[in-house]
Amino acid sequence: MQQTLAILKPDCVQNKLIGKVISRLQSEGFEIIGMKMVKLTKDTAGEFYAVHKERPFYAELVEFMTESRVVVLALEKDNAVEELRKVIGATDPAEAEEGTVRKMFAESKGRNIIHASDSPENARIELSFFFSAKELIENR
Ligand code: RTP
Ligand code: MG
Repeated sequence: MQQTLAILKPDCVQNKLIGKVISRLQSEGFEIIGMKMVKLTKDTAGEFYAVHKERPFYAELVEFMTESRVVVLALEKDNAVEELRKVIGATDPAEAEEGTVRKMFAESKGRNIIHASDSPENARIELSFFFSAKELIENR
């Protein structure tokens, strides 16, 4: 079993899509092993997306991620990282495959409903950003 991190972004919360997206993730076989609603600050959102600090969209991304609360999910499944990236689809919903979460629900490349870790290594880093080791004991 592998773990990965998803964030239901402010547009997901504002558009009342939390239930629909979680339901989709569960039906795809992801086990929710951690879940919390949090309000990111400029500092925490900036730190979380620090890899993008030099990118032109960074300021806009931090602004967006702090618009309202987000839902942070720790998910478990075989090959969870790759599987979740597949289910959410391409960054830009216009380029995302039919039936993916972003194709179904997202309005733009910036406001794209959901974040997912992009590698097992980043998944570990991102999970520990929001959850303690005690909170993420593996299923037995
Ligand atoms: P994420 O990290 O949120 O799961 O998204 P991703 O891997 O598909 O895309 P990434 O390149 O990591 O970009 C992070 C987030 O920044 C926003 N973005 N806006 N306006 C733009 O050109 C642009 N490019 C990226 C999106 O919210 C993207 O998910
Ligand atoms: Mg990314």
